[in-house]
Amino acid sequence: MENENIILSIETSCDETAASIIRNGSEIISNVVSSQIASQTRFGGVVPEIASRHHVEQITLVIEKALKDAKMEPQDLDAVAVTEGPGLVGALLIGVNAAKAFAFANGLPIIGVHHIAGHIYANALVQKMEFPLLALVVSGGHTELVLMKDHGHFEVIGETRDDAAGEAYDKVARVLNLPYPGGPHIDRLAHEASEGVEFPRAWLDDSYDFSFSGLKSAVINYKHNMDQRGETIIPEQVAKGFQDSVVEVLTTKTLRAAREFQVKQVIAAGGVSANKGLRSSLEKAFEKEGIPFYVPPLNLCTDNAAMIGAAGSFMYAAGKRGNLSMNGNPGMELKSWV
Ligand code: KG4
Ligand code: ZN
Repeated sequence: MENENIILSIETSCDETAASIIRNGSEIISNVVSSQIASQTRFGGVVPEIASRHHVEQITLVIEKALKDAKMEPQDLDAVAVTEGPGLVGALLIGVNAAKAFAFANGLPIIGVHHIAGHIYANALVQKMEFPLLALVVSGGHTELVLMKDHGHFEVIGETRDDAAGEAYDKVARVLNLPYPGGPHIDRLAHEASEGVEFPRAWLDDSYDFSFSGLKSAVINYKHNMDQRGETIIPEQVAKGFQDSVVEVLTTKTLRAAREFQVKQVIAAGGVSANKGLRSSLEKAFEKEGIPFYVPPLNLCTDNAAMIGAAGSFMYAAGKRGNLSMNGNPGMELKSWV
């Protein structure tokens, strides 16, 4: 499918206030992210009320900067794309309302994008997507295997039954007294140990579903038992044991699904796909298998608006349009747009 358009995109579903300008679904003209990680770190996680306030303060500045960096005016644009859901309702509302106001003021159509479709389409900014395609989506709120037979076609073939992978990373990081968000810290520590503590793997038989709460409890129990015995844990070894378990399960299930559905391309998406251990494990597995595997650069793995613009651009080309009654949809389901 050809798409020729210029999209302003906005993302505010969690703790990044972001705006971007994307050409033809594949080229980043500008990409602005205002992170609140520094303020969230003080509270050990995202506090919805604080996130919303930060979005209110930043949103206009971020949109203006995206236009300025791109040296563009509103009349250069074809549409405004915005994350409609899922996410924190108060956070989503700020992006959606900013998008509606901008679209109304400038006579532009508005397109509501699913956050996970955005994470998957981050890959369209790096290379052409080939179908059938399998996407492993691993973020703070999601762990899903999504099969795509074409642009805009999504079939969730497996998902987490409890915690998301990123959530497990953040909780285990707390046990190890590491700052929020914990993923990058665990990743770093894991690479500093040669041996890891042995933790269980949740295979869930033949299913493509995932479960990380048992692993999380195993880490908590291990720390508790060590404390009771008056022994000190070695954080690097705990981090490595935990990461090895997560990475092995994610890699094995992704490989099995790629074989079963005979996909032409495998991609990883979402904040946890920034994980060095996971990236190298998937790269090795798919190189051996002979299936092309891609993962976007780090700044496009974590939340950003460029990915929302990429998905929005393909939706625009497919004729999708929202309207000004759009609202933030915190529990939005990933639905095909074709
Ligand atoms: O996609 P994202 O930025 O936001 C959501 O949509 O949730 O993902 C954030 C999650 C956090 O849980 C964070 O700890 C995790 O991604 N993360 C990582 C790494 N970098 C970020 N997890 C493991 N290893 C990393 N290097
Ligand atoms: Zn995300």
